[in-house]
Amino acid sequence: MRKFRTVIIGMGRMGKTRYVAMKKHGHFEITGLCDNDISQLGEYDINKYEDWKCSIDQERPEIVVVCTVNAVIPQVVCYALEKGCHVFAEKPPGKTLEDALTMKKAFLKHKNQILKFGFNHRYHYSVIEAKSLIDSGFLGKVVNIRGVYGKAGNLQKSEWRNDIEIAGGGILLDQGIHMLDLLRYFVGDFKFVKGFTEKLVWKEAAGEDTAFITLKTDSGKVATLHSSAIQWKHKFDMDITCTNGYIALNGLLTSTKSYGEERITYYRKDLEQKSGKLGNPTEYTMCFDEDSSWDFEIEEFYKAIKGEKPIMNGTIEDAVAVMELIDKVYGNKL
Ligand SMILES: NC(=O)c1ccc[n+]([C@@H]2O[C@H](COP(=O)([O-])OP(=O)(O)OC[C@H]3O[C@@H](n4cnc5c(N)ncnc54)[C@H](O)[C@@H]3O)[C@@H](O)[C@H]2O)c1
Repeated sequence: MRKFRTVIIGMGRMGKTRYVAMKKHGHFEITGLCDNDISQLGEYDINKYEDWKCSIDQERPEIVVVCTVNAVIPQVVCYALEKGCHVFAEKPPGKTLEDALTMKKAFLKHKNQILKFGFNHRYHYSVIEAKSLIDSGFLGKVVNIRGVYGKAGNLQKSEWRNDIEIAGGGILLDQGIHMLDLLRYFVGDFKFVKGFTEKLVWKEAAGEDTAFITLKTDSGKVATLHSSAIQWKHKFDMDITCTNGYIALNGLLTSTKSYGEERITYYRKDLEQKSGKLGNPTEYTMCFDEDSSWDFEIEEFYKAIKGEKPIMNGTIEDAVAVMELIDKVYGNKL
């Protein structure tokens, strides 16, 4: 069985998650691990590196997985591409739109290699179901989406997310980016974007604790996003209105289960009251108690490397498009 020689750079929470998914997949031979905090590598019996360049130069891997903090992602991605590697990199694609464009430029010089970004939410079961319901046309066409993604953030000094030099932004760039990506996934590119970020509670924080955004596609589909680090409780909700029905996504299955049970509910409009209940059509709900998102995501990366299927999710175009939206919102602070 052919296995691809792989190095994972950045072995914090995500590096460990990707390690487990790639081991489980079985077609990746993880030959080296790198973290500038060597204590993160203690439990592994694999070549260990503190310096990411060294890990690529010495291991000469076929694949580099980049799970460092945001500020480091673009340099590692560009270097790994230059060295002929296929690259899987975490979101966000750098701190700024410029970072994403730099990676695009590097990728265009190495188009026969694979580059994929970890817009992981596309692989959650509720999202997969919503996408196939939308694409089937069963509920008509999407006309608007309302998304809320919030968490109980913190101001801890030890957390790199609270250091603007490393993170590049606040809650929108860190978490809201996932929902922005889903909004694009469900309705396509947005031509108009209006929004702003605020420090509503944490005035002394490095980045925003809140973002409100309104978006519109060329064909008139409208979406809104409320991204919040001051929800005080973890929350993931999306309401999708279609011409003939509705879809709700509530909760998101994560390892901590703090976003609640993952559910999709849908109904078709029932204006003739076939259900006998005005304004209360029959609803169908599916609940999921398993998160296979990491496995599905790695499988897509693997198939692309094998040349079986191109990358459909987390492409460099997705990365640049979502960073363009964020760039516009960040440029419009009230
Ligand atoms: N796809 C997702 O759903 C998802 C979820 C959470 C985080 N992320 C992203 O994954 C990345 C990592 O987040 P995390 O939660 O794992 O953070 P983390 O702090 O747990 O891990 C980051 C690791 O990178 C290491 N690191 C930092 N600079 C380095 C360098 N120069 N060389 C080598 N290693 C370095 C740190 O020591 C740390 O161990 C971030 O970009 C984050 O936005 C993605």
